Parts: sequence; C-alpha cells; structure tokens
Amino acid sequence: MNPRLLLVTGSLVLSVLIGTVIARSGSTGTGPARPTAATRPLIGLSLDTLKEERWQKDRDRFVAAAEKLGAIVLDVAANSDDTRQIQDVESLISNGVDVLVIVPHDGAAMARGVAAANKAGIPVISYDRLITGADLDLYLSFDNVKVGALQARYLVDKLPGGKGRIVRIYGSKTDNNAKLFKEGQDSVLQPLIEKGDIQVVFEDWALDWKMENAKKIVNAAITAHGKDIQGVLASNDGTAGGAIQALLEEGLAGQVLVTGQDAELAACQRILRGQQTMTVYKPLQRLADTAAAMAVKMARREVIVANGTVDNGFEQVPSVLNDIIAVDRDNMMETVVKDGFHSADSLQ
Ligand code: BGC
Repeated sequence: MNPRLLLVTGSLVLSVLIGTVIARSGSTGTGPARPTAATRPLIGLSLDTLKEERWQKDRDRFVAAAEKLGAIVLDVAANSDDTRQIQDVESLISNGVDVLVIVPHDGAAMARGVAAANKAGIPVISYDRLITGADLDLYLSFDNVKVGALQARYLVDKLPGGKGRIVRIYGSKTDNNAKLFKEGQDSVLQPLIEKGDIQVVFEDWALDWKMENAKKIVNAAITAHGKDIQGVLASNDGTAGGAIQALLEEGLAGQVLVTGQDAELAACQRILRGQQTMTVYKPLQRLADTAAAMAVKMARREVIVANGTVDNGFEQVPSVLNDIIAVDRDNMMETVVKDGFHSADSLQ
C-alpha cells in the first residue's frame, strides 16, 4: 500500500500519511477544498471492456455518483487488449487525473500501469478485479470465492439425488476473479467428486469470458461425451448464454441446469423462461457508489476507510468486499426487481 493516504481498517490504523497534502487552488490548507471549476477532482476510469451489460451499468453508475460529488470522470475501455489498456492508463496519467480506477483485463499485466501511476504519485483503486503484484491503494469488489461457492452449491442441490455429470466453464484465465470463482466452486465440488457423486465430463477456461468460447466448450463436451449431461457450471451469465445456445442446438435447453452470475437482463429472462437455472446478483450500485466516494476522497487527499485486506502478492491491499445473493425464479422479484436493478416489465 502506498503511504500517500491515511487508511483505516475498522478501528485499526493501517498507515499514516507521510506524503504532502496537495493544497489545491481554492483550498485554505486546513480542510478539503470546496469544489470549484478549478478544484473539481479529475478521475480516470480504465475499463477492460464494455462487452457485458454489467460494465455499462458499472460505468454509468460510477460516473453519475462521481459527478454528483463534484468530480469529472474520464472513462475509457480497452476491448480486452492489454497493450491498449496500459496505453489508456498512461494517457489518463498524462491527462493529469488525480486518481485512477482500474478494471484490469489482465490483473498481472496491469501491474505496469500501476507502477506508472505510483511514479506519478497518483492513487489507484482496483475495481472489481484485483491487480496483482502491484502497489495499490484500495481494492473494491464482492466476495468472489462466495460467488463460486453459491453457484456450485445451487447446482448440486438441484441435481436429482445430488448426483450427476457436469460441464465446467471457467472465466478468463487472465482475470483473478475467474480463479476465485473456481476456488469457491472447488470447495463445494471436490468432496463430491471424490465420493463419485459428481462427474466432471469436460472443463475449460473461456478465453476473455466470451460467449462464443463458452458455446464451443459445451459443443466439444457433447461431441466427446454425448448428451448425458445434467448440469453446466458456467461462471457468469455471458458464458451461460453461450452454453445455452449449444444446448438449444442439441435440443437440451431447459433439461440441463445452468448457473451464471451478474443478473444480466437476458439471463434473468432466460431464468424465467426455464433455460437458465440461477444467477448471482451482485449489487453493482453499491460497488460503483463506494468507488466513486472513495475516489473523490482520494483525489482530495482525504481519509478513506476499508474494512479488510486482500493479499495481492505484493502487499495486503486495503479492501471492501460486498456481499452477493443467489437468484432464481423464486426470489427474482424480492431481489433484482425490488432493488430496481431490472423492472418487472423488462423481465417479460
Ligand atoms: C466479473 C464478472 C463478469 C466477468 C466478465 C469478472 O471479473 O466479476 O461480474 O461477468 O468478469 O466480464
């Protein structure tokens, strides 16, 4: 962690500001400056992609929340290209941003971008996905191991007699979250695999989380092992969508349990149609609002509070991990609809 900001974990002081408090024009030097045109914090938001619906929601909510707090946001998406994302970060730095918020395509590769920000004295928030091997100021996400555990638990509980043959679709290998989802899934499945109750007939990583790659995984599983499959443990809604396309081609959609994550509109509709079994609802609103509030505080060199830490291979990064909830057709109204994540009408 950078000693640039005062960070507090619960009541525990993690580090004390040693750097200089930046006196911005309009500041009295005794407290945070009131935002004026000259003092509006400039936030750089670098996204891996806007491919999935969730990232558009994240961006829109983050920008709205930050603007409400008086900040200006420069946002850019790299279309799953590491070279481009590093260039994005470098150009945000040269545009003079006060703080960077990054959703990395490749958590390890982005350490370079963070090093450049460190050199320029710009604090960095790792948003949803952890940047590894880097000196970060804050990591904001969900309990991603729990996401995987919920997916696997749900699937196993729905399999007749808790037994069956399944296909596993992991996310992108370059995404630290994909590993955490797998870890959570493994914690539930491993004992059942050892007992012989669950048989994994096919498993693979879906490059860049792409739907078409997930479809290919299910196509390959059926070609190699036939149609005797009871479940597809897909790691998110995008890959679930790809899996369901393959199942539709084989006349199996609706007969095979399929998991997901993100509570995307299309996924919620598939759940109500009976093609997908569950999703994991992650209240992005909370994540984006917290990130915006923290980014503005960091830009103003104010104190921020985290409630835990996560090891990123370089340091214990101050972190806030939000809770999540498994959603199926039975609780969709009291979760995503009640929260206004989707309207009841849009789900028809
Ligand atoms: C996120 C998921 C998302 C996936 C693909 C993961 O890092 O946690 O919500 O579906 O990336 O973009």
